[in-house]
Amino acid sequence: MFVIKIGGSLLFDDKEQINDKLISKYAKTIRNVVNETKKKCAIVVGGGKLARKYITSSRKLGASESYNDIMGIEAAKLNARLLIGALDGIAYPNPPNSFLEFQKLYNLTEKIIVCGGFQPGQSTNAVAASIAELTSAEKLVNLTDVDGVYTEDPDKNPNAKLLEEMPIDDLLELISKHETKAGQYPLFDNTAVQIIQRSKIALQFVNGSNPDNLKKALLGEKIGTLITF
Ligand code: UTP
Repeated sequence: MFVIKIGGSLLFDDKEQINDKLISKYAKTIRNVVNETKKKCAIVVGGGKLARKYITSSRKLGASESYNDIMGIEAAKLNARLLIGALDGIAYPNPPNSFLEFQKLYNLTEKIIVCGGFQPGQSTNAVAASIAELTSAEKLVNLTDVDGVYTEDPDKNPNAKLLEEMPIDDLLELISKHETKAGQYPLFDNTAVQIIQRSKIALQFVNGSNPDNLKKALLGEKIGTLITF
């Protein structure tokens, strides 16, 4: 079993259009890898720009932060449906609404379950971590729009260095420095890191702009950043 988290940042281009070519490539790669390895797989899709648009308006309209989170959850589920459509035949047709719904489905179907968000106060990374924990996944691959975890924010400091490995305690420290509110959970949210730590889940951050990287990560190649315990 492996779990794939597709960062919302990858789903939309600079003009805020849906990156359907990339989604189609992911679907092909996932079909191939599932065929080759005969392993079960679950996928979690982020909310991306769609989530942020709705969260921004919802906040302006005076909704509570938890309600703004609901906007993000629903946006992520809509994004999940794009991938479900592309995985027609091998994916379960609906994204589950909660962890318990996922658990029921996981016991009922061999199909790929594609998820969005589950509950307020966390990000889709926590969804991916809880699923990896439940299913004793051999790996959680987090596809993002950078090559992995850097010593500093690469957007702010061009000299920031990519880390091939990162101890879980360093990831915890990195996360603790960030403020969290709807639409703004950093690289990984606190709930997600706690789950990764307690169950020692093999977490790998990989640049998902190139879908070949997903295949490499799933087949055990050293790529991106591996979290160590
Ligand atoms: P994400 O934060 O996970 O997607 O969900 P993203 O912003 O696209 O981030 P990456 O690139 O995938 O890491 C969007 C928003 O949905 C809400 C949060 O407000 C989050 O910021 N959300 C999502 C929840 O409240 N609970 C969930 O379980 C998932």
